[in-house]
Parts: sequence; C-alpha cells; structure tokens
Amino acid sequence: MDIQKEQESKEGAWHKVGMLSEFPDISHESIGCKILPGCKTKSIPKPQDPKKSKANRGSGLEDQVRVFKHKGFMHAIDNQCPHSSFPLKQGSVFDIEDGAGIRCFRHGWQFDLFTGTGDRGSHTLNLWDIELRNAPASGSMEASETGDKEVWVRRPPSLWAF
Ligand code: FES
Repeated sequence: MDIQKEQESKEGAWHKVGMLSEFPDISHESIGCKILPGCKTKSIPKPQDPKKSKANRGSGLEDQVRVFKHKGFMHAIDNQCPHSSFPLKQGSVFDIEDGAGIRCFRHGWQFDLFTGTGDRGSHTLNLWDIELRNAPASGSMEASETGDKEVWVRRPPSLWAF
C-alpha cells in the first residue's frame, strides 16, 4: 500500500467539491438552502465499504454530503436527516444565537450547523471536515491571482461505520 492510500485509510480521503467562488452565501436568499444553486450535493462513498460493489457506490443518500456557505462560514453536512433519513437538501437554514441551524422539511427537527446537536432526542447531525486550500498555480489568470480557494471535504473517521 502506498503512503497516500495508507494515510487515507487511516484518516479518510479528502474530496474537492468546487471553488469557493462557486458557493454564493445562501444567507442572502429568503428561502434558505432549499434547492438553491449555491448548495451542492455530492456523493462520496464510505471508504472500503465491503458490502457495496463499485457499481452501487455513491447511489444512496447515506453517501451524500451537502456543502454550502452561510453568513461567511462554509458547512459540509450529511444530506440525510438523522431522524428518519429525509434529504436535508430540502431543509432550510436559519439563524440561531451565535450560529446557524438547519430545519428538516419532513418533521421540523432542527440541528445546529456547528455542533450537529439536535433539538429533540439524542439525534445528532453528522458534520464533515472542511478545508479551504490554495489552488495550484497555472499559466492563466486563475484562482491564485483572484484569491479564490479550493473547497475540500472529508468524512471524519468517526462516521465510517457501515
Ligand atoms: S426526517 Fe427529518 S425531522 Fe423527521
């Protein structure tokens, strides 16, 4: 196993989900995250899931991450409500004291976007690691000159349970 693959198997792989400039701040929209182009949903299969063939990977809601910017903060969360697995891409983002939350459209449960804590029971929203990286330099007027950054996400190892 090469060093990179060994590192990924221990810490999880990072995935580029786009450029920071591709994520308009959804706090400027009156309907929150709901079906806005500023929110991206990506399928990223769990690493080394022995139950899934390669053909089936990335097809389920449990593999999806929802990425968006709200009030200047980038967020990456499971696209699956912890209550009953409804897609959170249909949820709405709202302000709370010192932060923000997302309300699931299905039954109205709410989750803190900075801690994952839910407002009912012991259900917790899974938060992904997120990192902004400088774009590699290239020949033309690119991200390095505009100050744009690459947005990378990683499923934390604690969320690898199959
Ligand atoms: S499925 Fe989200 S609150 Fe019930």
